[in-house]
Amino acid sequence: MFKTHSAKNIGHVFISLLLTGTCFATVQTKIIINASQPGVKISPTMYGIFFEDINFGADGGLYAELVKNRGFEFPEEAVMGWSRLAAGGARGSLSIRVQEPLEQANPHYLRIEVRDPSKGFGVSNEGFRGMGLRKGQEYWFSVYARAEMETMTFKVELIAPDGRVIGEARFADVTKGWQKYQCLIVPTDTEARATLNLLGTCVGLLDVDMVSLFPADSAVSSTLMPEPVPGLRKDIVQMLADMKPGFLRFPGGCIVEGRDLGNRYQWKNTIGHINQRKTIIGRWNTEFAHRLTPDYYQSFGLGFYEYFKLSEDIGAEPMPIINCGMACQFNTAQLVPMDQLEPYVQDMLDLIEFANGPADSKWGKIRADMGHPEPFNMKMIGIGNEQWGPQYIERYKVFAGAIKAKYPDMQLIAATGSDATIFPNGHAEIEYLWEQWRQLKPEIVDEHFYRQPDWFLENVGWYDNYDRNSPKLFVGEYASQSVGVASPDNRNNLKCALYEAAFMTGLERNADLVRMTCYAPLFGHEDAWQWRPDLIWFDNLNVYGSANYYVQKLFSLNPGTNLLTTQVNDAPIFDENKKALSVSSTLDKKAGEVIIKAVNVTAEKLKANIELKGAKKVGPKGKAIILTAKNLTDENSLQEPKKIYPAEKSVSVNSPSFSYEFQPYSLTVLRLLVE
Ligand code: AHR
Repeated sequence: MFKTHSAKNIGHVFISLLLTGTCFATVQTKIIINASQPGVKISPTMYGIFFEDINFGADGGLYAELVKNRGFEFPEEAVMGWSRLAAGGARGSLSIRVQEPLEQANPHYLRIEVRDPSKGFGVSNEGFRGMGLRKGQEYWFSVYARAEMETMTFKVELIAPDGRVIGEARFADVTKGWQKYQCLIVPTDTEARATLNLLGTCVGLLDVDMVSLFPADSAVSSTLMPEPVPGLRKDIVQMLADMKPGFLRFPGGCIVEGRDLGNRYQWKNTIGHINQRKTIIGRWNTEFAHRLTPDYYQSFGLGFYEYFKLSEDIGAEPMPIINCGMACQFNTAQLVPMDQLEPYVQDMLDLIEFANGPADSKWGKIRADMGHPEPFNMKMIGIGNEQWGPQYIERYKVFAGAIKAKYPDMQLIAATGSDATIFPNGHAEIEYLWEQWRQLKPEIVDEHFYRQPDWFLENVGWYDNYDRNSPKLFVGEYASQSVGVASPDNRNNLKCALYEAAFMTGLERNADLVRMTCYAPLFGHEDAWQWRPDLIWFDNLNVYGSANYYVQKLFSLNPGTNLLTTQVNDAPIFDENKKALSVSSTLDKKAGEVIIKAVNVTAEKLKANIELKGAKKVGPKGKAIILTAKNLTDENSLQEPKKIYPAEKSVSVNSPSFSYEFQPYSLTVLRLLVE
């Protein structure tokens, strides 16, 4: 199976013997790094994050709200997530009403009519596949309530799957007129699938809306959110922060476009007080027949303010992607007529003002009122997601023209449709778009790759021959699909992770052209995903990184400041176009270190002579961070979240020329002091 680069048969035989562990003299792999000539600057945004509300990424995921359909606003399904509860033979009735609502924008609320309270009459909320509660931690319960005539009383219970009450609160004196009632509840047990009961405890009429339960320690805040400030799931935010991402792309993905235009992402509906944000159906709700998720809606509790704030909190450049008058071309492909684009263009200009305008500008004031008077300093914006065809180009021109007229420094990101292999007439479409981009010159062009693992390994040199005069590149969505694109059988296994890592060495070697990259999608809820593979997996209590996550993290934490030219001689290859060893290297000027990233995809140790050409002194101290596992099919899971996890060890090197043995099936990051 194994071959060398060399066509000579003799080399072929020797390498094959080495890799199968037989002791014959053989051609030694050589890595030559030009250490004294730092090349192009690695973009600080080289490694970033793609966020999309898919797989319960927002509601039920990053957004820490535990009550599903808290406002009874799921379109046409106002009571989805809720069920009737009559404890101890209680009697009463439930109705959804809109008269004199809490908010005109979200008019529905629940009326609980209690005729015989017994042990309580009302409703139970199922959460997002249950609610994750931890023993001893504080949770804020809140609800807007009013009594229709008499003063009302009610209770709230947190219920374990076996029916035990693990938290409780009682409220008396609910009077006429909407008022907020809230309290802290501390569960007496940890449960991943708890539910919440809200029960009237005296005869009368009780109206309730915006029923909410949040962990008290959720991470991001905004003054317009209900007190106390709820936000994002801290453990998940930490996983993102740990990557030290260069940018955060949001809100997608196809969710930007919507299945139809009515379902598109409209950022203005996602800001301000959460009581006024309008719930819509999630576009992934019924996308895949094999993973129907009828209870997938977007409450927009996680909206554009929160995205900007999250970007800031984790030190990432915000990268919003906006709808350009086109619905998803894989779905309805609806188009806004050219003479009706103006409101869409205005939305985009207003977004820039919301992010960057002074606190006394119309949209900057809304940002300031939400708790952030300083601008978010957004520098780039994507026009459309996976758009293609002449219809895209004519719309792109309108949006780009409007932005550049007002904000000439704003960097524009243009699309190249989807992965060429999965969208209709792919390659021709992409060629057409590239012709346009060469003329229109957006600052950045976005390319997507959802391919099988072998493709990533075979195409480590994908960008080597790209035209250096073309716009810069954003590899804005990629992930190795072990079975097929979005197949429910895809796995986040070591093979996929390593082959992506090999591909990433190619991205890094082309860092003059490739300025930004990110894996997609970001999140998967173990019980509620639609698309896999995903970078980070979670359930209602836990979160873990896939092997792919640790690959991304290792690149992101070790970018270096300048590219170093790297040549690999006599590396074995297996199969026609696949190299056993892929390498890139950079210099970290601040740390005075050379950073070598090497991916060995074989089952054997691979020894290489490494020469840091031009270096006067190397080491002696250094370290190697190694990501590996026994089998290519290994993967992390809730049960074994760190089965594939980077291990660090010290290495000692005393000369610019040294040898190093790369572990089987591994990504190694070597950091060595250099002068
Ligand atoms: O990452 C999942 C989806 O794949 C994105 O929404 C879309 O842009 C791509 O087709």
